[in-house]
Amino acid sequence: MSENFLWGSATASYQCEGAWDEGGRVPSLWDIYLHKNNLEHGDNASNHYHCYKEDIRMMKEGGHKSYRFSLSWPRIIKNKEGEINPEGVKFYHNIIDECLKNGIEPFVTIFHWDLPQYWEDEGGWTKREVCDAYVDFAKVCFQEFGQKVKYWTTFNEPRYYVFSGYLIGNYPPGLNDIPKTIEASFYMMLANAKTVQLFKRLGINGKIGIVHSYSPVYGVDNSLETKIAMRKADNYFNNWILDTAIIGEPPMDMLATLNKKYDLSYMKEEDFNIIRENTVDFIGLNYYARALIKPYTSGESIFRINNEGKKAKGTSKVVVKGWFEQVFDNPNSQYNEWDMEIFPEGLHEGIMRAYKKYRIPIYITENGTAFYEDVAGVDSVNDQGRIHFLNSHINAILQAIEDGAEVLGYYVWSTMDLYSWKNGYEKRYGLIGVDFENNYERKPKASYYWYKKVCETNGDIIERSNF
Ligand code: BG6
Repeated sequence: MSENFLWGSATASYQCEGAWDEGGRVPSLWDIYLHKNNLEHGDNASNHYHCYKEDIRMMKEGGHKSYRFSLSWPRIIKNKEGEINPEGVKFYHNIIDECLKNGIEPFVTIFHWDLPQYWEDEGGWTKREVCDAYVDFAKVCFQEFGQKVKYWTTFNEPRYYVFSGYLIGNYPPGLNDIPKTIEASFYMMLANAKTVQLFKRLGINGKIGIVHSYSPVYGVDNSLETKIAMRKADNYFNNWILDTAIIGEPPMDMLATLNKKYDLSYMKEEDFNIIRENTVDFIGLNYYARALIKPYTSGESIFRINNEGKKAKGTSKVVVKGWFEQVFDNPNSQYNEWDMEIFPEGLHEGIMRAYKKYRIPIYITENGTAFYEDVAGVDSVNDQGRIHFLNSHINAILQAIEDGAEVLGYYVWSTMDLYSWKNGYEKRYGLIGVDFENNYERKPKASYYWYKKVCETNGDIIERSNF
């Protein structure tokens, strides 16, 4: 195990910062959507904007070697004309400086879903103009922070973001529109390639990657029908991000199928050239669960995700008409309260598959599990369930490293309790509890102290087992 392995934890700007209308920040699409629909929002989130020094100190005391966080576009760029907000820029200099002062390597995500509303008003990610504006935003980030930050990622989970916003409709802009899903996906992947190109042109002294919501695909049986469904599911879940970003070529069988039904003429030859020539240096994989697949049977497409929790079994349902169905009720599986399967083997297998196929360095940029926890009523949450979950997943990574994969870092999701998109604040992931009702008091959980030992021993205290 390399001494340089980056042990850390992760957050995202909208989910932890709060201060939604402070420091010259303008609204993101999440502010507008959640306020308009009267939903739980991130106005104050975990108050990280005001507590970042305390939070970074706790990371250091918790043995962290790295902190993965994102830059908020609406905090940095004020308007469509690209006017920079100096206060926003200063905030991220402060975070980065604080990390460096504490010996913590900043691992920066340029976009973790908080698109400025002024771009959403223009049609958001379905517009080429927004793709170009993103590259301009990235340029500001490189110029401002490029001397200090060595690890960059363009996007957090483009697949999850686009599908949730444009296909499932449970995230803003709340659509169920296949042509727009394809458009938004394409422009994000083009923006990724253009940003990699810019990064290289500017000669930034560092590495650039992309973060993907990785769901290794498994089949319910070995039949040919299931294998065909698995290939389609793999394109849907993984290949169109990973192949495009790493090999420079989207899965051609998928494009050919889509091309028969939808107008893809906005995808230009020169775009594909840029995609081909500008591939990432590394890949960030966020792993929560595998995707268990069975062949499509009948009926219309269904995209339903359990944002309610409380073991609302049967709430999650994904059927892609003519392609595949996703299984959420395998009798041999264990699920958390939000229908998320607990399956550490999938992380080992997923890493091995990705490494064999792509042969580039991998960082596990998110991994964790959620619980309902009473933080207000206790001094510290005794979250043995989380410790067990993290141990089994880190074990899977150590095994993958032993089996030859180049995994260079691991980030627990999340550093502290934070806003969990449509699930609100009840769904807690943090190593550090946040008492949202009492001045955002920080209360490290048992997992925080356990993870400190993991970081400090470079993984030696992990209880090992074979799959
Ligand atoms: C990832 C995201 O999809 O999963 C995070 O990058 C997110 O932003 C995390 O919070 C957990 O998902 P959720 O929906 O439970 O908050």
